[in-house]
Amino acid sequence: MMKNFRIAPSLLSADFARLGDEVRAVIDAGADFIHFDVMDNHYVPNLTVGPLVAQAIKPYCKRADGSAVPLDVHLMVEPVDELAQMFAKAGADIISFHPEASRHVDRTLQLIRDAGCRAGLVFNPATGLDMLDHVMDKLDLVLIMSVNPGFGGQSFIPEALRKTALVRQRLDAWRERGGREVLLEVDGGIKTDNIAAVAAAGADTFVAGSAIFGQKDYRAVIGAMRAELARVV
Ligand code: DX5
Ligand code: ZN
Repeated sequence: MMKNFRIAPSLLSADFARLGDEVRAVIDAGADFIHFDVMDNHYVPNLTVGPLVAQAIKPYCKRADGSAVPLDVHLMVEPVDELAQMFAKAGADIISFHPEASRHVDRTLQLIRDAGCRAGLVFNPATGLDMLDHVMDKLDLVLIMSVNPGFGGQSFIPEALRKTALVRQRLDAWRERGGREVLLEVDGGIKTDNIAAVAAAGADTFVAGSAIFGQKDYRAVIGAMRAELARVV
């Protein structure tokens, strides 16, 4: 049976002058999540969009049949807590943040969950996984960065495959101990030609920005990605 894989187009490479149309188009093309990259020119050397824009696109985050497509907010900001709460109010379904950007990681996770959202921790390429050990019960998602955060269109860092496999082991062990299912998302440099390797390493959710929005036919790219994923057992 094919695993339940999710493709999460990153709006970072979309046309910001037509964001609503872009969200609609990528959902029509088969997107499972809408990945929304928030950069503050402090935690990362780039500046993108805030809660106002999240709120503006939220009504577009649904399929033609009315079913909701989760708005997956990736915060690259420091500090985290206040903005996390603002994004929860703006309509985020998932909010993930970088642990080094929060003084009190457990509190930030709890605050996101108290706001009614799913909570995720993001690990940069050089960041170790120790942080996971004591917060598993508050996690809904782990996001492994396969580029350094800040920009779209960078090349995939192969070490991320090994790290993804390590996280997969930890998440499986957690489930065996009775824990809930935690999504394992990978972000940065994912294309049709490497998505199968990322899935084989244990990821179930794939962020892709330039690979999707850099092509005219979003459906063709997402379809090609799914065909690659179908080959992974
Ligand atoms: C990078 C962002 C990514 C980025 C991915 O800081 O977190 O989501 O948009 O873009 P690609 O797929 O082009 O590497
Ligand atoms: Zn991202």
